Amino acid sequence: MPRLVTISLASAVVLFLLTSGGARIGGGDITFKVKGAGNVTFSHENHVVNYELRCTHCHDSLFLTRAKHRKVTMKQMQQGQSCGACHNGKRAFSVKGNCVLCHTR
Ligand code: HEC
Ligand code: HEC
Ligand code: HEC
Repeated sequence: MPRLVTISLASAVVLFLLTSGGARIGGGDITFKVKGAGNVTFSHENHVVNYELRCTHCHDSLFLTRAKHRKVTMKQMQQGQSCGACHNGKRAFSVKGNCVLCHTR
C-alpha cells in the first residue's frame, strides 16, 4: 500500500509537470560542481524522455533533491552507488572510464 501511494504521487508529479507548460521535466538540469575534474550536468529530460526511465528508478532510492544531496566519490560510484547504479557498463556507459562524457566543463 505505501508503495502504491508513492507511485501514484510520482505519477501525479509527472502529469503536473507535463501539463504545466512542459518547460522542465522532473528536477530539470542538475549541475554538480567538481573541482579539478570539471562540472557534471545531469539532464532529467534525457534520462526521463529519451532513455524512458521512471522517476521511481532514481527517487528516492538513489537521489533526493539538491538540498539533500548525498555526496559520493567516484570510488563509491564504481561500487554501484549514485550514478554508478546504472553507469556500470551494462545499463549505461561505465564510470570506470568515459570521464569526459559526464565531466564536460
Ligand atoms: C536517472 C535518475 C533520475 C530520474 C529517472 C529522475 N531523477 Fe529527479 N533527480 C535526479 C538527480 C541526480 C537529482 C539531483 C539530486 C542531488 O543533487 O543529489 C534529482 C533531483 C530532482 C528534484 C529536485 C531538484 C532540485 O532542484 O533540488 C526533483 C523535483 C526531481 N528530481 C523530480 C523528478 C521527477 C518528477 C522525475 C520523473 C519525471 C525524476 N526526477 C526522475 C535523478 C533522477
Ligand atoms: C556517469 C557520469 C560520470 C562519469 C562517467 C565520471 N564521473 Fe566523476 N563525478 C560524477 C559526479 C556526478 C560527481 C559529483 C559527485 C558528488 O559531488 O556527489 C563526480 C565526482 C568526481 C570527482 C570528485 C570526487 C572524487 O571521487 O574525488 C572526481 C575527481 C571525478 N569525478 C573524476 C572522474 C574521472 C577521472 C572519471 C573517469 C575515470 C569520472 N569522474 C567519470 C559523474 C561522473
Ligand atoms: C536509472 C539509471 C541511470 C542513472 C541512475 C543515471 N543514468 Fe545517466 N544514463 C542512463 C542511460 C540508460 C543512458 C543512455 C545510455 C548510455 O548513454 O549509455 C544515460 C546517459 C547519460 C549521459 C549521456 C547523455 C546525456 O544525457 O548527456 C550522461 C552525461 C549521464 N547519463 C549522466 C548521468 C549522471 C551524472 C548520473 C548521476 C547523477 C546518471 N547519469 C545517473 C541511465 C542512468
